[in-house]
Parts: sequence; structure tokens; C-alpha cells
Amino acid sequence: MFKQARWKEPVIFELGHLGRRGHILPPVEKEIQQVVGDPKNQIPEKIRRQTSPRLPELSEVEVMRHYIRLSQMNYCVDLGLYPLGSCTMKYNPKINEKIAKLPQVTSIHPYQDRKTVQGILEILYKLSHWLAEITGTYEVNLQPAAGAHGEFLGALIMRTHHKFNNEDKIRTELIVPDSAHGTNPASGTMAGFNVVVVPSDEDGCVDLRALKDAVSERTAGLMLTNPNTLGIFEKNIEDITEIVHDAGGLLYYDGANLNAILGKVRPGDMGFDIVHMNIHKTFGTPHGGGGPGAGPVGVSEELAKFLPVPTVAFDGEWYYLDYNKPYSIGNIRGFYGNVGVLVKAFTYILSLGAEGLEEIAEISVLNTNYLMKKLEEIGSYELPYAKGRPRKHECVFSAKKLNKEKRIRALHISKRILDNGLHSPTTYFPLIVEEALMIEPTESFEREELDRFVGVMKKIAEEANENPNEVLQAPKNTAVNRLDEAKASHPKTMVLSWKMHLKKTTSS
Ligand SMILES: Cc1ncc(COP(=O)(O)O)c(C=O)c1O
Repeated sequence: MFKQARWKEPVIFELGHLGRRGHILPPVEKEIQQVVGDPKNQIPEKIRRQTSPRLPELSEVEVMRHYIRLSQMNYCVDLGLYPLGSCTMKYNPKINEKIAKLPQVTSIHPYQDRKTVQGILEILYKLSHWLAEITGTYEVNLQPAAGAHGEFLGALIMRTHHKFNNEDKIRTELIVPDSAHGTNPASGTMAGFNVVVVPSDEDGCVDLRALKDAVSERTAGLMLTNPNTLGIFEKNIEDITEIVHDAGGLLYYDGANLNAILGKVRPGDMGFDIVHMNIHKTFGTPHGGGGPGAGPVGVSEELAKFLPVPTVAFDGEWYYLDYNKPYSIGNIRGFYGNVGVLVKAFTYILSLGAEGLEEIAEISVLNTNYLMKKLEEIGSYELPYAKGRPRKHECVFSAKKLNKEKRIRALHISKRILDNGLHSPTTYFPLIVEEALMIEPTESFEREELDRFVGVMKKIAEEANENPNEVLQAPKNTAVNRLDEAKASHPKTMVLSWKMHLKKTTSS
């Protein structure tokens, strides 16, 4: 029986004692002191702090114990299956961290003389070319910091392209399928488009008739995820790209699900003009809890002139930052983007090679279909859309039947999964599936771990019939029980820093 550690752990500000130290800063090296003098004097008097910041004062061992206790109350991808659909929570090899932590990566500055940063420039140059090769695009820019940021950049490029052709006043509509991730319509709207939603057909794919009705001289483009958020590969992808191109629109590929097709098919070859990649998902960066990420964008030759500056270029002898793009939309983030994440992706691709990447796609798809079959056999979870057709990287089940018969919702099931020492799938997404449980096992988990998940889902289905309160009241075995999720995300009740906590407690 799983039981998570439960510590009554104060926040770090409430621990320790004045004067306790865990680290003594090394003296400033003599050579540096000779050149710059006392570093304190480098800071102008008027912005110098007069009192010390109120930081916690703890010994090394206190800090260590604090974080170990917190980690025992947590769950992570290094502990077990983390089947959070659409998030690609795969194992992140430790070599990636090791390389990204090297001082040659962490202690450099973009304004350094380019001769002193040739290594990192070469890494970024090669990475952007590999990503172009993987996606079948002409040029890749590494600046965006997340998938949604890449979408926003892509939508801006789409708008700039139409402006270049004097069509931006007419081409104001961005088409998005109803299975899309919420960031798609949001990015399109932020870039100034009116979003037009097209429905899915009974196979979970874009309804071609509805798409034909939706395109017009107002169409700026279509934003599409393929395989889509149901884990289904768009069977009519060539027709879709043709319909949109014929109407004068551009095709945008949301690459959140690239894991499923690595080395198998390329968005560029499917006809997409703009592609983003969720580097943190597909290429091995730990990203649970919201970061860090990178969302490079690749485009066709025609659109390359609009990409942000700077790009990393090579003149045959030196790598350098190229700002010479007169049609560029400008920059979307500082310098080369989120370098730590990009270095991890470089390491990941280099260590796996082309064959390794292809194997990722094969195993992640195999794992999904194995899980899907086993879960279907339980009989309590329904698989909507495309019955009998295989899925790619993920499958989406519905808890509609259990909700109708026993008032047990997807939320209850996901909480009960936590009680069994595993992470929950994504719930309530995509919106087109009622009581959705979206499951993405990735390639990182062996058959025994997948069977463990199936066993837990079977047990929950049995409990739902025999002892529904066990499910309805879950979780009981975790470090914290059922949270009031609405309260937790309300701006009035959120306490995000020690300062906010002090303000709240001293004023009440
Ligand atoms: C299908 C899809 N598109 C876009 C995004 C946005 O990516 P990011 O979270 O990196 O901004 C996600 C994130 O989960 C996604 O699943």
C-alpha cells in the first residue's frame, strides 16, 4: 500500500537562526581586485542597499534536510509513470543537466567578444540546423521560450507575410480545430486574428467539409496539431494543406506532439509553412510545474526573412550573431533564447542520434497502444472517436459512464490514482471529450510500469462499483489531501511569496 511522507514542514524563512551559514563566499581573487578594486565599489552609491536583505540563515545540513523532506512529499518523473497527456513527461537523462551546468555554458555573457564564445555559438548553430532537418523546415530560430511563445511568433510571422503581400487587412481569420490546445486560439488572438473554430469528424480528425466551408479570402492560415490532441494522426493531412494553401492561407504546425513522429514524417513534408517545437517535452528537459522551456520556430524558405534577430551564423571561420535581416519581425526574446534548455536538447539529440530519435517515436506509440488496449479491456472507460484505430503518442478515455452511473468523475479517478503512488493523466482536455482522461505514457516506461497503471485503473473501476466513497474522497494517502483548486488559483487567496505572507499575516 502506497503512503506518501507527510512532514509539517515550515517554509525556509521560518527555519534557521541569525548568523548561521551554509556557504562562505570565496574571497575576490587578487588579480580581479587589482583590476576592478573592491567589487562593492562597482555599484553606484545611490543604488547600494543600506541594510542586508532579509534572507534565511541556515546551515548546509538544515537546507539539505528541508529540501529532502519537501521532495519526499512530491512526485516526479524519476519516481514512476507520469502519464500527463500532451505534456510528454519523459525521463530526462542526467547527462543533459551535467552539460548544461558546465561553466562554459552558465558563466558566459552574450556581449562577450565572439571569439570567446565560439563553443556555445557552435552548439546553437548546429542545434538550429538539426531541428530544421528533423522538422523539414528551411530555417529555425531558437528564441521563443515555450510552445505558446512559438505559436505567438508563428502567428506574427503569418501576419507579417500577409502584410508583405498587402493582404493583412483582408486575411484576418485564423482557423483552429475544436480539439486544439487553448494556447492556439489565444496566440492567434494575441497576434490580432479572429479565430474560426472547425469541428472534428467522427474519426477525431478535422472535418474536411467544415474546413472547406470555413476557408475564404479572409483566411490567414490554419493552426493544427498532428497527431492531434486525441493522439490521432490527421488522415487527410495532404487534403487539409491543399485546401488552406489554395485559399491563400499558411499552415502552422503545433509541434507539442512531435515525439510521436520523430524520424518518421516531417511537418515540412506534410506541407506546413511554420512549425514550433516544444523542446522541453520532446528533447528531454524537466518541465513539470511550468518551466523552463524553449519553443524554437522553423519556417519555409519564403518566410525565413521574417524570423527574429539575431540568428547564429557561420562565415566559414567564425560563428557570430547575425542581425542583418531587414524584414525581421524584430526580437521576441533576448539574444539566443533559453540557452540552458537548448543545450540540453543538443546533448539529447547528440547522444541518441538519428536512430535513437526514431526509436523514441516507435516506443512511445507502442506504449500508448499497449496501454489503450489494456484500458479498453477493463470496460469502464470509454474510448471516444475512431474506434479500432491505433493512436500515436497518447489516447483519450472518457469517464462519462462512471459519472452517469456512480457520480464518479475524471477528477475523482485522477485523485484516486495519486493514492496508488502514480501520477494522474491530464483531465478535462481536449474539450471535445466529456470527462476526459488524456494519457501519454511516453517511451520512458517499461511494460511492468504500464501494467502497474492498468492495475490501478482496474482497481479504481472495481472500487467505483463496490465502494465508491474510496474514490470520491481520494486522495487519502498523499502528503496533502483534496485541495480546493478553485481557491488555490484565485488571485485574492494566492500567497506566492514570503513578503505576501508577512503582509497578509501582519495586516490580519
Ligand atoms: C497541444 C499543445 N499545444 C501547445 C502547448 C503549449 O506549449 P507550452 O506549454 O510549451 O507553452 C501545449 C502544452 O501543453 C500543448 O499540449
